[in-house]
Amino acid sequence: MKTGIDRISFYSSRYYLDLKTLAEARGTDPAKYYTGIGQEKMAIPPPDEDIVTMAASAALPIIEAEGRDNIELLALGTESGIDQSKAAGLFVHGLLGLPARCRVVEMKEACYGGTAGLQMALAMVQRNPGSKALVIGADIARYDLGSPGEATQGCGAVAMLITANPRIMTVEPEAGIFSDDIMDFWRPNYRSQALVDGKYSTRVYLNALADTWGQYTTITGRGYGDIDRFCYHLPFTRIAEKAQERLAKSAGIKPDDETLEQVLRRSLVYNRITGNSYAASLYVGLNSLLDNDDGDLGGKRVGMYSYGSGCVAEYFSGIIEPGYREQLFTGRHRDMLDDRTELTFRQYEDMFTLNFPTDGGEHTFAQYRTGPFRLAGVEQHKRIYKRAE
Ligand code: CAA
Repeated sequence: MKTGIDRISFYSSRYYLDLKTLAEARGTDPAKYYTGIGQEKMAIPPPDEDIVTMAASAALPIIEAEGRDNIELLALGTESGIDQSKAAGLFVHGLLGLPARCRVVEMKEACYGGTAGLQMALAMVQRNPGSKALVIGADIARYDLGSPGEATQGCGAVAMLITANPRIMTVEPEAGIFSDDIMDFWRPNYRSQALVDGKYSTRVYLNALADTWGQYTTITGRGYGDIDRFCYHLPFTRIAEKAQERLAKSAGIKPDDETLEQVLRRSLVYNRITGNSYAASLYVGLNSLLDNDDGDLGGKRVGMYSYGSGCVAEYFSGIIEPGYREQLFTGRHRDMLDDRTELTFRQYEDMFTLNFPTDGGEHTFAQYRTGPFRLAGVEQHKRIYKRAE
């Protein structure tokens, strides 16, 4: 029986900082960001947006189109957790009005959390083909102001409905898997910005790719030429080009610009202008590919590389279903991205430094532009979410 992605929907914040503005403020050549790391804009969440509002906003179009019946799992992958105990997905469950007969859990392993949720969902649907799962990746990428990581910030969420006989992508069962106890990127509980050994992190990302790709090709008997399109975890888009060159090199191929354009770059369109969204980012890449590839991808195989620092990596693949285009929310995504507000450097720093209150008192948050849901305030250490007006 086929299992996989039946619907997919992407959401990102309504505000962004152009990396030219950041370059000017930091005295850096903008080409370092635009070309060197391959990023143009980073999405910045306003104070009344968090992973819950982004996750619910990503999932709402799917619920409106497909209803709530038989959704027996909501798995939310994130490394921007809002509570040490309660799963953030429970707030999303409430905002979306999902049935009580639904397992709700939070998946954490850095940027791998979304893939962990996907694998759990596929296993559940295989066992009980009448059930459906909502898998969401949602994150806010934050590094210290002025640090090398600053230009690779961003935010976003992707929601996917996982079903039997999916209408967008059947996920194939084989996978290369790699774990290692390392410190390339981490965020201790007392910090709201991540710590990272940047150069080391990019090295282990590429080494784990070589390992998982090697396993994948051995297990499946497939090679580089059997994959039609490539999607990667995207901390910044230039790393995907390096990853692609690595895989091609292992097959004795040096891809030219035209080939990279065809097999890779449509998956980078959204990330270039929204930035890293950690657990969501591989699936932002997949959604970007589906929305922006001019050709008909029906029947094509997509290679998927998931990487979470710390680290866990996985290489797997899927086959795009004929007629997939009718299931996409392409117009909605484009409208959302075209209708964003550009921030000045001062506004960006102000938003960045507004810390979430921790005094247990009553606080109401000013209304910014958000999607359908917003974080209205906090009372007695409890976050209050509302429908945006
Ligand atoms: N014009 C064009 N290119 C330029 C340039 C210019 N004027 N100036 C520099 N460049 C190029 C450099 O040559 C370099 O390219 P190569 O890597 O191909 O050599 C690129 O721009 C970046 O320059 P630096 O290496 O000097 O940049 P940096 O050290 O300041 O920071 C970084 C780069 C390490 C990626 C940093 O942004 C960072 O720490 N980011 C966060 C960590 C990260 O994203 N790691 C990725 C792997 S871990 C992961 O995937 C999990 C996750 O999501 C975090």
